[in-house]
Amino acid sequence: MDQKSKNKLPKKIFIKTMGCQMNEYDSNRILDLTKKINYISTKNVKDSDCFVLNTCHIREKATDKVYHEVGRVKKEFRNKPKPIVLITGCVAQAEGDVLLKKEKYIDAVIGPQSYHEVNKIITDIERKNSRLSSTEFDVIEKFDCLNLLKNSVSKISSFLTIQEGCDKFCKFCVVPYTRGPEFSRSVKEIVSEARQLIENGSKEIILLGQNVNAYNYNGNKLSDLLYALSEIEELKRIRYTTSHPKDMSKDLIEAHGKCEKLMPLLHLPIQSGSNKVLRNMNRGHSIEEYLMIVDKLKNQKPNIKFSSDFIIAYPEETKDDFKETLSLMNKIGFINSYSFIYSARPGTPAADMKKINEVEAKKRLKEFQNLADFKKKEYRKTLLNSKTKVLFENRIQNENKYFGRDEYQNSVITTSDKDLTGKIETVNITQFNNNTLFGEIFPKNKTGQHAA
Ligand code: SAH
Ligand code: SF4
Ligand code: F3S
Repeated sequence: MDQKSKNKLPKKIFIKTMGCQMNEYDSNRILDLTKKINYISTKNVKDSDCFVLNTCHIREKATDKVYHEVGRVKKEFRNKPKPIVLITGCVAQAEGDVLLKKEKYIDAVIGPQSYHEVNKIITDIERKNSRLSSTEFDVIEKFDCLNLLKNSVSKISSFLTIQEGCDKFCKFCVVPYTRGPEFSRSVKEIVSEARQLIENGSKEIILLGQNVNAYNYNGNKLSDLLYALSEIEELKRIRYTTSHPKDMSKDLIEAHGKCEKLMPLLHLPIQSGSNKVLRNMNRGHSIEEYLMIVDKLKNQKPNIKFSSDFIIAYPEETKDDFKETLSLMNKIGFINSYSFIYSARPGTPAADMKKINEVEAKKRLKEFQNLADFKKKEYRKTLLNSKTKVLFENRIQNENKYFGRDEYQNSVITTSDKDLTGKIETVNITQFNNNTLFGEIFPKNKTGQHAA
């Protein structure tokens, strides 16, 4: 911070984040960046001098949501000077200037690879009241800039983006257009940022990328990075997301067996159980290949479990294709599934294909989700009276209860008199609902207090 800004009262920035974890990571980095120009984060929109909407373009109505959110801000500021309004993220990239033209309340539109420009853009707006859009794909500059900046997140479990963009061009997906081509950060930068997060108190790091397992920096692959991070003693847990089945290479599968800090849950999107649909989507692999990967991973790590993404009612999906998705769900028993009806994204090849009628699509989604819920419940029942290792993340406000996650990322809540934040404890599960497991620390000592 320069001397001039040091003397001024800080201004306040509010960021509303939509979409994937990568957007969450980016929002935190925008907060780190804007500290340099004397902004501090606020949780109250009404207090903000700068309002940022970090957007997602993956499914329908993304652009409408932007206008809706901006409309809400307008209302909040009806009787006072407007804040600077910035639209960032994937809708910003996809729509660019159109947003500025349609909504005069927006001051700037900044694409995901242009965050390094944010401070210049804000100061320009402050000085000249100019309006602009910055949507170049300049991922190298983005990370060059972020590398010079400490990641100040101090959460027990933290995200760390290691890879951006996608070269796969699945026919339904906007990501290759909004995030640009694949780019991997260097091992050195990543390890250094991981160390910062750990110094701030992180015990778990979740490595992020739109195609995280396509990570490749000068021949260093994701497995190499996993081993390098495992060396950091204070780091207790590592996860990575989101992976593409095509990039589940031999070395990465082996790392699941060798790297103890790597948690035994893998999010591996399959999208559909039908080979025909996978071909129509341009996923580049078959169901048989997917099942083989699952088997190989189980050979390396017998207790590994899977979660997945599904697109229901993709164009040309027949009832029989859909049944194959149900049977895949039955076969693998994913412990968490994220399913959405196919949504046509402008500019993607699938947008020109004939859509399945809405009533049928909704019926299929409901049937799929009923099965997914049933599977999840069956799995959760097996956890009753079992012991699970939980990394505790925080205390629940005004209660003697702590929230954490087990190795499979299930949310767990337990009661404790001592501070469990940042600790890994064994918990005996006594109850569950769809979202949370409840239990007691194991073992209890004689006085009924929790063992140290
Ligand atoms: N790179 C990851 C997924 C990134 S997008 C992969 O290849 O699997 C996250 C999820 O959004 C996808 O897995 C998919 O299930 C969903 N999705 C993406 N585009 C969609 C669309 N047009 N309609 C419905 N769901 C979509
Ligand atoms: Fe989108 Fe994932 Fe396909 Fe890339 S691999 S185009 S991010 S669904
Ligand atoms: Fe959405 Fe962009 Fe992430 S479209 S899912 S915010 S990469």
